[in-house]
Amino acid sequence: MRLLVVCLGNICRSPLAEGVLRQRIAEAGLERRILVDSAGTGGWHAGEPPDRRSIANAARHGVDISGLRARKLRAEDYREFDWLLCADRDNLADVRSRAPADASARSALLLDWAGLGQGAEVPDPYTGGPDDFEQVWQLVDRAARAIVAGVAARTLAIDA
Ligand code: 4NP
Repeated sequence: MRLLVVCLGNICRSPLAEGVLRQRIAEAGLERRILVDSAGTGGWHAGEPPDRRSIANAARHGVDISGLRARKLRAEDYREFDWLLCADRDNLADVRSRAPADASARSALLLDWAGLGQGAEVPDPYTGGPDDFEQVWQLVDRAARAIVAGVAARTLAIDA
């Protein structure tokens, strides 16, 4: 199962989600069953490491995301991934509006897909403070745990 987490800039939310997913997947020994990457609908920060506040927050939780680099969502992503999992509704609307004709990937809200609430969003922390980044962490950590547990138990409705 190939998962691409998508937010706006690929420097705050989706790198945190990618980092915690990678960590939980490794802890569960599921590296061969789940592949994770992240991207942004916008390319302003392409090539940059995650926002220093995201790096600091992840580090406090024992996850190193400093080596990640931002990139913009590309047309191939719609064929190379099974699911494009979006942080918020704006991201989901952008992802869907740009889908190429031959897209095979499906798209959803990350939290919704993980079973954490219909329509639930990961709020943009960019103009916020440390508490906002911690809230993002709590949400993506819960999502990562739910996704890994679902894959481990083969109960996640990946064909839903
Ligand atoms: P992200 O946060 O989508 O979680 O990476 C943002 C990063 C950059 C900007 C907005 C949100 N920006 O406007 O540059």
